[in-house]
Amino acid sequence: MSEILQSVRGMSDVLPTETPAWQTIEALLKRTMQAYGYNELRVPLVERTELFKRSIGEVTDIVEKEMYTFEDRNGESLTLRPEGTAGIVRAGISNGLLHNQRQKVWTTGPMFRYEKPQKGRYRQFHQFDVEALGFAGPDIDAEMIMMSARVWRELKLDKIELQINSLGTAESRVVYKEALLAYFLEHQEQLDEDSKNRLHRNPMRILDTKNPAMADLVAAAPQITDYLDVESQAHFAVLQELLTQAGIAFTVNPRLVRGLDYYSRTVFEWVTDQLGAQGAVCSGGRYDGLVEQLGGKSTPAIGWAIGLERLIALCETRDCLPLVENPHVYIVLPGEAALKPGFALAEQLRDVLPDVRIEVNCGGGSFKSQFKRADKSGAQVAVILGDEELASGTVGIKPLRSQAQQETIAVADLAEALRKNLP
Ligand code: HAM
Repeated sequence: MSEILQSVRGMSDVLPTETPAWQTIEALLKRTMQAYGYNELRVPLVERTELFKRSIGEVTDIVEKEMYTFEDRNGESLTLRPEGTAGIVRAGISNGLLHNQRQKVWTTGPMFRYEKPQKGRYRQFHQFDVEALGFAGPDIDAEMIMMSARVWRELKLDKIELQINSLGTAESRVVYKEALLAYFLEHQEQLDEDSKNRLHRNPMRILDTKNPAMADLVAAAPQITDYLDVESQAHFAVLQELLTQAGIAFTVNPRLVRGLDYYSRTVFEWVTDQLGAQGAVCSGGRYDGLVEQLGGKSTPAIGWAIGLERLIALCETRDCLPLVENPHVYIVLPGEAALKPGFALAEQLRDVLPDVRIEVNCGGGSFKSQFKRADKSGAQVAVILGDEELASGTVGIKPLRSQAQQETIAVADLAEALRKNLP
């Protein structure tokens, strides 16, 4: 196939057979947001490159290796968003939504990272992202996690586990970073090139390495939980109590540090062993310093994002998603004379039966070929409007998924008959 016809590597089409699953998940997530009082905030797909550098952090995989960055015609450096949080914080500050206010918002759409594509890891992927800004306590941390747990419950997903950790405050991390630096300096000969580069600039990001040769070294590194300040410890303890009270099982994973620099205190990931190497389905945490760091007034905040491709793949392992939505009714119109009345009839039916999916045969064809199309469409019922029916003010109704015989009824009775016979 010529290259121009292939989608860009790591970026996929979502086909009509796949979109019902997406729509079901998106509708469920939107309903959940409404139930918890979160409103949608739509932000651009493109932001200034500097925004991502300053929020995600210069010394991170995303900023160093994965951003789609380009110059626009004015020579300004722009980047396709690799995640949603930075844009939401930018929008919150620039629209004056944060000053002395609290915001609970969500957004959804494509994100872009130049990663090595594999199952569950793409270059264009979709997140459903939730953020609560202006909330300092562990109660909102618990609410955030409870919201996501509700989504898994509604989808009947059980092979998904919660890991939590606390990264403390920026101040307590200074001490931790010193301990990490000392440890890695002691084992410098085991560091790969990437990690050597990060050693003095951002030693915590060495912990994110995807290099298996460094796994043992990272596993034995000092743990952040041993360096937490007293307030962060108390915050983390209350979060754990609230989760326990809500019946949400969790594991404290002291190795969970997340790959973005803006986090502080609570971080968490929902992980599954059902999807191979890409097990994180939903991840997030607190980012109490980010608003101020980007130029706003100090505003504590927390959020998470679900990777929709991963969530859908997980649902597929459990068969909990709907299949394609076929039409309910296929209107067969043999003969030219039936075209106009057939279209009019379909429109009338759509007026009175808004939930019934009605497909009209387009493109003519013999009675036999139209009937074949009706069958192939997956419809429950074919409605036939031929010359005879036209002349007598009737229509034929033929159930397509049972052995029942075709019946002839008055056009005026059709809507009622469909209402009775369709699921
Ligand atoms: P993240 O962990 O980088 O966090 O991404 C969140 C989720 O997006 C992951 O758990 C995963 O499900 C999905 N994901 C990430 N990269 C890919 C990829 N290349 N292909 C497919 N799915 C992927 C964030 O983006 C933060 N902004 C989350 C957050 C919101 N923290 C606070 N608020």
